[in-house]
Amino acid sequence: MTAADRHWLRETLALARRGRALASPNPLVGAVVVDSAGRKVGEGFYTYEGRKHAEVLALEEAGEAARGGAVYVSLEPCGIHGRTPPCVDALAAAGVSRVVAAARDENPEVDGVGYERLRACGIEVVEADGEIAAEARRLNEAFFHYARTGKPLVTLKAAVTLDGKIAAPDDNTGWITSAAARAHVQQMRHDHDAILTGIGTVQADDCLLTDRSALPRRRPLLRIVADSLLRLPVDSRIVESAAGDLLIATTSAARQARRRLFESLNIPMEIFDAPAGRVDLSALVEWLGTQRIASLMIETGSKLNWGALEGGVVDKLLLYYAPKILGGLDSLPMVGGVGRRTRAGALLLENLKILPVAKDEFAVEAYVVKQAATVP
Ligand SMILES: NC(=O)c1ccc[n+]([C@@H]2O[C@H](COP(=O)([O-])OP(=O)(O)OC[C@H]3O[C@@H](n4cnc5c(N)ncnc54)[C@H](OP(=O)(O)O)[C@@H]3O)[C@@H](O)[C@H]2O)c1
Ligand SMILES: [Zn+2]
Repeated sequence: MTAADRHWLRETLALARRGRALASPNPLVGAVVVDSAGRKVGEGFYTYEGRKHAEVLALEEAGEAARGGAVYVSLEPCGIHGRTPPCVDALAAAGVSRVVAAARDENPEVDGVGYERLRACGIEVVEADGEIAAEARRLNEAFFHYARTGKPLVTLKAAVTLDGKIAAPDDNTGWITSAAARAHVQQMRHDHDAILTGIGTVQADDCLLTDRSALPRRRPLLRIVADSLLRLPVDSRIVESAAGDLLIATTSAARQARRRLFESLNIPMEIFDAPAGRVDLSALVEWLGTQRIASLMIETGSKLNWGALEGGVVDKLLLYYAPKILGGLDSLPMVGGVGRRTRAGALLLENLKILPVAKDEFAVEAYVVKQAATVP
């Protein structure tokens, strides 16, 4: 790969990002066509409603100038027929001589097929590695996860003090982290298909959980409250603002009268019974996959954080740290519940990354190590 290759691939990544919240449950893809003299002659990015793949849009813009040129793309071009004909055929028909791709398509149904078919057409294929490949992979990590498992990628987000507290005992007004961190969180909400909280957080904070990024999105952010007994107040802001974007995840222990009340308000409810009488979060996550939700973020309190971590549904954590200490045994820790009772039993995380946020603030990104079920 040359410096020019890296430059154009970076541009495909920037184009792909323009499809945020407009492409899911399909991947974010950007493409650039460069003619044989090294000039950009076409570009495109994918949106679900637009249907046409990024490569096709870029080739259309380039027209005849694509012949003998190179196509840069943030994701391996598709080699099979989906909602549209394969991009490999369009690339071959346009007479492109070289394709440079930032990331393989990890969707098991198509992985490597695009590259193979391009090579069979006599087109030179260059696969990126290093930092650009990692960035491109990360851009579509939710899509890859969803394609592999049929379930959304689940990210638990929390705003914590340096001593790991998420709420003070006497007064919960105001924020733990700064405006800069909260702007990150808005972008994060924008990038997700759904968001989950617990009834405890709705009762304490009367939160809205909306995407307030002011950026366009194809589907509303689906707001979900885990509420086993349907205690959700009908005059809460989340209920009052519901516009087909609120779901209550509940259990069959909820009273009929409460169920009828939410039915009369046209608020959908789904039952996910867990043995302990709480919402079965694994079943909820699986069901969301069937609804074509490819990414779920959890923004909640101690109890549901514990339920989600202990229930094994969390894939990734994003913890925003503020330069503060609350202390005290009564302030809420990020993760409550009974906890793991031995150090050896602690939940393990890997691939940690520290992200700068603002002066004196940072976030930690980490992935949950999935422990294999122990064989008795
Ligand atoms: N700093 C932050 O990032 C942050 C973010 C959010 C909230 N908070 C704070 O967290 C506090 C609320 O925390 P919380 O622990 O009381 O409430 P929570 O975690 O938001 O909600 C807990 C409730 O969720 C319900 N639930 C349903 N299914 C569950 C399951 N499988 N596992 C666990 N819970 C389940 C339970 O009530 P039912 O049994 O009735 O269903 C449970 O009591 C507030 O003070 C809020 O300000 C802080
Ligand atoms: Zn395609």
